[in-house]
Amino acid sequence: MAENRTNEITNIAVIGAGLMGHGIAQEFACEGYNVYLHDVTEEQLNNARTQISKNLTLLAENDLIEKASIPDILQGIQTTTLMDAAVADADYVVEAISENLQLKQQVFAKLDAMCQPHTILASNTTALMPSQIGAKAKRTDKILNTHYFNPPYLIPLVEIIRSPHTSDETVSVTFDLLTSIGKTPAIIEKEALGFVGPRLQAALIREAFSIVEQGIASAETVDLVVRNSFGRRLSVAGPFEVFELAGWDLVLAAFEDLYKDLNSSSGINPLLREMVDTGKLGVKSGAGFYQWTDERQQALRDRMSEALIRAIQQEEKH
Ligand SMILES: NC(=O)c1ccc[n+]([C@@H]2O[C@H](COP(=O)([O-])OP(=O)(O)OC[C@H]3O[C@@H](n4cnc5c(N)ncnc54)[C@H](O)[C@@H]3O)[C@@H](O)[C@H]2O)c1
Repeated sequence: MAENRTNEITNIAVIGAGLMGHGIAQEFACEGYNVYLHDVTEEQLNNARTQISKNLTLLAENDLIEKASIPDILQGIQTTTLMDAAVADADYVVEAISENLQLKQQVFAKLDAMCQPHTILASNTTALMPSQIGAKAKRTDKILNTHYFNPPYLIPLVEIIRSPHTSDETVSVTFDLLTSIGKTPAIIEKEALGFVGPRLQAALIREAFSIVEQGIASAETVDLVVRNSFGRRLSVAGPFEVFELAGWDLVLAAFEDLYKDLNSSSGINPLLREMVDTGKLGVKSGAGFYQWTDERQQALRDRMSEALIRAIQQEEKH
C-alpha cells in the first residue's frame, strides 16, 4: 500500500463547512493546497465562501497575507454537496461535521469506502476518541483526530490524538502537514475523552458554573476576574510554568483545603441544565448570562479577533 508522505500531499478534502470547517479549509488553501470543501447544502457552502472572503480580507488588512493573493486562495477552494466528488482525489481528509458519534462513525465508514487506500482521515471532534470515530472503518492505522481551536485561522495550536491503532507514519505525516501550514501541533500520547484542551476548559467551566450557582460571584464577575488576572498570564505561560514560579510547596499548602470545597461532581451542573432547558443558549438564542444584541456580539468577536491578530503579529516580530 502506498505510503503518504507530507510532500506527496497536494489535495485536501474538508467535510463540513460550518464554523470550523470553513476556517480549516482556508488554512490549507492559504498555503497552496488544493482544497475541496463539502457540506450537505449549497446554502452552507455559500455561507462558507462568504465567511472565508471576510476572514481573508481581515488577514490582509492586518498584513498577515498579501491582499493580491486573495483571488488565488479563493480559487484553490472548490465546493461541492457530493462527498464522493470531494474526496475522490484527496490525500488527506479533515472531518468537521456536527459533534455526534453515530453520524461521525457513518461518515468515516463512507470515507473509508470512497477514499484512495493511502488517504489519511482526521476528525476535528471536540471530545470524542479516534478509536470510537473510526470503529466502523477498516483503515484504522490511518485514522486520528486533529483538534483545531476556534477560530482555526487565528489560533495556532492543533492537538493530534492517535488511537491505539494509528500508525507512527500517520502521526508524523500529520505533524509535518500541520507544520507546513503554520500550525503548532501538539501530539497527545494517549487517547482520552476531551484530550488536553477541552478537558482543562471543562474543568474551568464546571467550577465557574458552581461559583455562580452558589452565589459566590456573578457570571460577569467571573469573566472580569479571569480576563484581568490569570487569563492574561495563561496566554504567555502554561499552568505548570506559572506554578513552578510559585513553588509546589506553596501550591500544596494553598490547595489542600480548597480542593475539598471545589465542585468535583461527575454530573452536569443544574444551572447549566436549566439554561439549556429555558433556551438561554448564549449568542445563538440572543441571551445567556448576557443579553446579546447584534452590536454586542460583533463587539466581542472584534475584541477577540483583534487580540488574536496582535498575538500573531507579536510572534512574527520575534
Ligand atoms: N465550534 C467550536 O468552537 C469547535 C472547536 C473545536 C472543534 N469543534 C468540533 O468541530 C466539529 C464541527 O463543529 P462546528 O462548530 O464547525 O459545527 P457547525 O454546526 O458550525 O458545522 C457543522 C457542519 O457540518 C455539516 N454537516 C452535518 N452533517 C454532515 C454530513 N453528514 N456531511 C457533510 N456535512 C455535514 C453541517 O451542515 C454544518 O455546516 C464538531 O465536531 C465540533 O465539536 C468545534
